[in-house]
Amino acid sequence: MTTAYLNGEYLPKEKARVSVDDRGFVFGDGIYEVVRVIEGSIFAWPEHARRMTHGLSEVRIPFGAPDVDGLEAVCLRLLADNDLTSGEATVYLQVTRGSAPRTHYFPPAGTQPTVYAAASRFTPSPTMRDDGIAAITFPDFRWTRCDLKTVNLMGAVLAREAAHEAGAYEAFLIRDGVLTEGAATNAFAVIDGVVRTYPLSNYILPGVSRHYALDAARDVGVRVSEVPVTQQELLAAAELFIAGTTTDVAPVVSLDGKPVGDGKPGPVTRQVQKAFLAKLYAPAAAAR
Ligand SMILES: Cc1ncc(COP(=O)(O)O)c(C=O)c1O
Repeated sequence: MTTAYLNGEYLPKEKARVSVDDRGFVFGDGIYEVVRVIEGSIFAWPEHARRMTHGLSEVRIPFGAPDVDGLEAVCLRLLADNDLTSGEATVYLQVTRGSAPRTHYFPPAGTQPTVYAAASRFTPSPTMRDDGIAAITFPDFRWTRCDLKTVNLMGAVLAREAAHEAGAYEAFLIRDGVLTEGAATNAFAVIDGVVRTYPLSNYILPGVSRHYALDAARDVGVRVSEVPVTQQELLAAAELFIAGTTTDVAPVVSLDGKPVGDGKPGPVTRQVQKAFLAKLYAPAAAAR
């Protein structure tokens, strides 16, 4: 039996119920997070909590920093209750504007946000990590606040479905002739030995893994540049990779059915991946 958390209560997941008037259901009016857990420790909790607090404040859902900080204890309790304190896991967290009669404008003051969390076992894919993934290019027709991790994921859903139908894992999103990010990962190209990725702005999610991947690259002496990659540069890039909470740093070995470089994970990607994984697994290793 899986135990989940809903509005202050720990209960069997199948018993967790949200109203059909919940604004998360009706409007996609909410913010979420996914955190990675290794041997019971949450990786980069402060970064995830900061992003969630910022997102909730930007969309004016009254659930502030102390409330979000309190979700760390919820995650740890869910991990313990679900026997997930060893091995790897993820925790999904979601806060919506709550349940109220349907109006586009905000519900009455005092409407309680809906707060949900659930932990699951997670096993990283060795194929993704070692052999890499296939990607396609796809138009980035999402809105212009992609920096907010809202539960309204229609753009990502349609992009990932197009990738899935093409036998690929990720969709590389193209806006105004440049690569912004993946549908659910940040995207990187290695061009002339430099790791290039879209700069932080309203057009991409400020990925926690993006931050650690860029740090990892700098640590091992790989140059990093936050100058957008044009579609032309993308198609000619020597190496491509993605970074995300459930993908880590993973090589992209084919794009739109054509091999990237020689069709094998490239040396710079491998260097960054190794340094990234060392950061990811370091806190758990230190605790042992
Ligand atoms: C659009 C998008 N970009 C990037 C990421 C990667 O972010 P993180 O590394 O924080 O998981 C995600 C994760 O869900 C995402 O949805």
